[in-house]
Amino acid sequence: MPVLRLVHPEPAVGPTEARRRKIGLEKVAVDFATRGKTVRAVDGVTLEVPEKQFLALVGPSGCGKSTILNMVAGLLAPTEGTIEYDGAPVLAANTRVGYMTQKDTLLPWRTVADNIGIAFELRCRKASAGERRERVAEMIDLVGLGGFERHYPAELSGGMRKRAALARMLIYEPETLLLDEPFGALDAQLRLLLQQELLHLVERRQMTVILVTHDLEEAVLMADRVVVFTSRPGRIRATRDIPFERPRNAMELRFRPEFSAIHEELWNELKDEFAASIGGERGAK
Ligand SMILES: Nc1ncnc2c1ncn2[C@@H]1O[C@H](COP(=O)(O)OP(=O)(O)OP(=O)(O)O)[C@@H](O)[C@H]1O
Ligand SMILES: [Mg+2]
Repeated sequence: MPVLRLVHPEPAVGPTEARRRKIGLEKVAVDFATRGKTVRAVDGVTLEVPEKQFLALVGPSGCGKSTILNMVAGLLAPTEGTIEYDGAPVLAANTRVGYMTQKDTLLPWRTVADNIGIAFELRCRKASAGERRERVAEMIDLVGLGGFERHYPAELSGGMRKRAALARMLIYEPETLLLDEPFGALDAQLRLLLQQELLHLVERRQMTVILVTHDLEEAVLMADRVVVFTSRPGRIRATRDIPFERPRNAMELRFRPEFSAIHEELWNELKDEFAASIGGERGAK
């Protein structure tokens, strides 16, 4: 596997400068009707994401994290409240965002290189075959999938599929990333490398990011702000600014005492919600 490029000389984006609102959720609630019952998945969520902010959402399984990303991507309308992007309501598929869904949506009948290449063609219809090959090779190298270009998704491991999906999303060069558990299936080593690479990329391209993760450590290492959700129906339980400077070195940060303190503070918020969520699931059976 090629070595990921970890050093980028581009200037840092200061986390504190005042920025305009990129994404806004106002009193959002979502109900799902299934099997003759209506379930409230998300309730009363008001949230603003300034441009270039890296926001992480954490909360127990089933609290509505993916549902929120689906709404920002314009794939689902809220039952109550509004979703805005760049000051306009999101009423249809939001083409300004790159969305890496929780379950990857690679085309099974296309190779890794074609899955990524098709995305590039959709973005740059006039690109030459040579340019396409070059950009695809760059992305494959970025996610460490060299040697697997001609493989089909079914021939890849879970982590490799995630990496292919990440490359396919990044080749669009979206201004905003919606990432749903992007590193969930990766081994610890590769996870670290890709976290670091993503941090560099986000800074270099000045992207706005919403990252959904089960991993609180990952949230604190990567984000400018972490939002903790309650168990279903998902409401905002706590919001915490993460004061670490950019660019960040995720590998070094985890050993700092401030990191442990913030991690512990947020864990204290989260642990009751995990307990409530497990109790709730058992109670529902
Ligand atoms: N299309 C749907 N139809 C019916 N119910 C749904 C649908 N999508 C989500 N739900 C329900 O809404 C709730 C929130 O689901 P969601 O997928 O947003 O949770 P999540 O926080 O992403 O969970 P996880 O961490 O397990 O991915 C769950 O109770 C789920 O069963
Ligand atoms: Mg989810």
